[in-house]
Amino acid sequence: MDNIRYASSIRAELRASHAGETGAVWIYRGILLVNRIKRDSDIDTFAQHHLATEKDHLVQFENLIHRFRGSALLVIWIFAGFMMGALSMMLGKNWVYYTIYQVESFVDVHYRQQINTLSKLEFLDKTDIIKMMEACNADEQAHRDEALKEMKNEPHFMMRIWGKLVATGSHYAVVLAKLL
Ligand SMILES: [Fe+2]
Ligand SMILES: [Fe+2]
Repeated sequence: MDNIRYASSIRAELRASHAGETGAVWIYRGILLVNRIKRDSDIDTFAQHHLATEKDHLVQFENLIHRFRGSALLVIWIFAGFMMGALSMMLGKNWVYYTIYQVESFVDVHYRQQINTLSKLEFLDKTDIIKMMEACNADEQAHRDEALKEMKNEPHFMMRIWGKLVATGSHYAVVLAKLL
């Protein structure tokens, strides 16, 4: 294994995505834990499938961890992801689909910005890393579209407030994870 550490701007981008993929894994774990009581088979299939994809994304970032430092706030991203998943499942399946739709919409924009930023820089394995991010983002877009398709009715007022909270929270999580 090489012991190259990337320049700080690249480390910050990788740290934010690693934190995001960690949070994503825990969103689905939160959903699935609450679903052990609720036993909704649609949610089970949906969340198991997404969880497997997010674990795969996380492993890909873990494989690069010697080139950046994982977020010092990782435990917070785990907790926040878990709570987001668990809470939405407690409220109902439409909340779950709407939460995932909001999170993945945010992630799509974020990955695209990140790919754009990284394209302008030079670093080791740049092509592979950008390809990896593009592949991850294709999955996130599929997750987003799947969640939207599963929504049975329009989000009501409280759900839209929650959606704003999720989007704002994700924004600040990225800002923080880049720094810490
Ligand atoms: Fe992901
Ligand atoms: Fe995803």
